[in-house]
Order: sequence, then structure tokens, then C-alpha cells
Amino acid sequence: MEHEAYILRRNFSANARIWLVDLARYLPPSAQIDGFDIDLTQCPPREWLPSNVAVHKVDCLSPLPEHLLEQYDIVHIQLFHLAVHNNDPAPIIRNLLGLLKPGGWISWGEMDYSTFKIIRTEEGKDAEDYLTPLLEVIGTLGGTRPNWTADDWPIRLPQFFEDNGLTNVAVNNRPFPLELLPFQLDTALMASEEVSYKALDPMRNGTGDRCRDLIFKIFQNRQKLAYNVGRLTVVGQRPLQ
Ligand SMILES: C[S@@+](CC[C@H](N)C(=O)[O-])C[C@H]1O[C@@H](n2cnc3c(N)ncnc32)[C@H](O)[C@@H]1O
Repeated sequence: MEHEAYILRRNFSANARIWLVDLARYLPPSAQIDGFDIDLTQCPPREWLPSNVAVHKVDCLSPLPEHLLEQYDIVHIQLFHLAVHNNDPAPIIRNLLGLLKPGGWISWGEMDYSTFKIIRTEEGKDAEDYLTPLLEVIGTLGGTRPNWTADDWPIRLPQFFEDNGLTNVAVNNRPFPLELLPFQLDTALMASEEVSYKALDPMRNGTGDRCRDLIFKIFQNRQKLAYNVGRLTVVGQRPLQ
């Protein structure tokens, strides 16, 4: 492998791991790992990254820089729900395919919200579910848009891959193991709090405060009630010809 392209995993908190940096630990130093995101403000400074990891400001919906085309063996993208418009990931897929060498692979990881399920411990069997209302507030950005968590494109990704000429399409969809649910919940709450300040507060309609109130109530039941969703990964190969 000479080059690999990855969309950067952002570091929401001290315990969140950085996907690219993790990956660099497992690959030989000769593997070049490039991270792309439209916003690099949550990345570590370039000079603190491993020498074979680089990050680039790239919009996955715009034409990609010429020098990146057909350079990569593997392109991985994950958690791009909000960048997919009209329930249609095809424009992003077509763009990312341009990065692949013939025979290269694309991998896309998303949460499968169609399997969203509240999980309670015995002690939490009567605990109020504030998570479903939080998902509604976040998913609709405070009631200003259709709920993106209801979009069904992630479970249709295999068909999108095939429609765009990819072969050897394979799917893996499995829930989080129970012991990871509290950490998954913490990450979701931190991301929701970030959304409450950055996206909901500017609307000045009280949804930011409502969001933080729900987060506070959910956190009080952190060891009694959580949610699970499928962790969906779809891979496909660009044909050699
Ligand atoms: C939920 S975060 C996921 C980040 C990272 N992939 C991960 O797994 O932790 C969604 C990311 O998509 C980025 N993003 C949104 N629209 C984009 C676009 N048009 N092009 C590139 N990145 C975009 C955001 O800046 C954000 O970092």
C-alpha cells in the first residue's frame, strides 16, 4: 500500500480516540494516511501527528483536488450523516471513488438508527426515557428540518455502491457490546451538547436549553438506561478495469 485516504475521526473529548492516529500504530510507517474534513479545528496540530499522517481541508461535496485523484488503495469515511443531503449519498460516493486506484476499496461506517433501541438495567426498568426526545431534538436540529436520523440511506448503501459500479460489496452491521454503552452514551451526550451551543442556541428559541436539560436528566441515569444502534460498515471495490 502506498497511499490511503481516510476521513479524520475527530476528538470530542480526552477519552475519545483519534481514528487516524490509532491506525498509524498498526500500519507500517511507509503507509501514507491522509485525513480529510471540511473543518480541521478539532485536529491535533500538524506537527504533533505521526510523520505518515496528514490532514487536509477538503469538501467531500466539491470536486476533489486533481493531485489526489486515483492515488489511494483504501478510502474510509464514517459518521457523515449530516453531510448527506436529500437522503442521497451518491454525490459523495461518486466523488470519493475518484480517489481510488483501480482495484482500490471504499469503506463507509455509519450508525444504523433504524435499529435504535433503549436498553435498561433491572434497576432502571422504570427510569424515564429522555434519550428518544433528545434524538428528536438533535435529529431535527430543534424542529427546523426533517429528522436526519430517520433517513434510510445507510441501510441502502450496498445498493448505492453497486449502482456506482463497485463490486465485492460486503456489509457488517452489529450493535455495540453492552459494556461499551455508557461510553457510547457519553460521546453522544458530548456531541449533543456541542450541537446545543453551536447550532441550537443561535436560533434563540429555547431548544438549546431544552437539549441541555435532557442531557442532564439522561446523565443522572447513566448506569441505568442507554441506547444501542447498529454499527454499520459497508465495503466495496473499484473494478480493476
Ligand atoms: C460526526 S463528525 C464525524 C467525524 C469523523 N469522521 C469521526 O468519525 O469521528 C462529521 C464530520 O463531517 C465533517 N463534514 C461535514 N460536511 C463535510 C463536507 N462537505 N466535506 C467534508 N467534511 C464534512 C464535519 O466537519 C465533521 O467533522
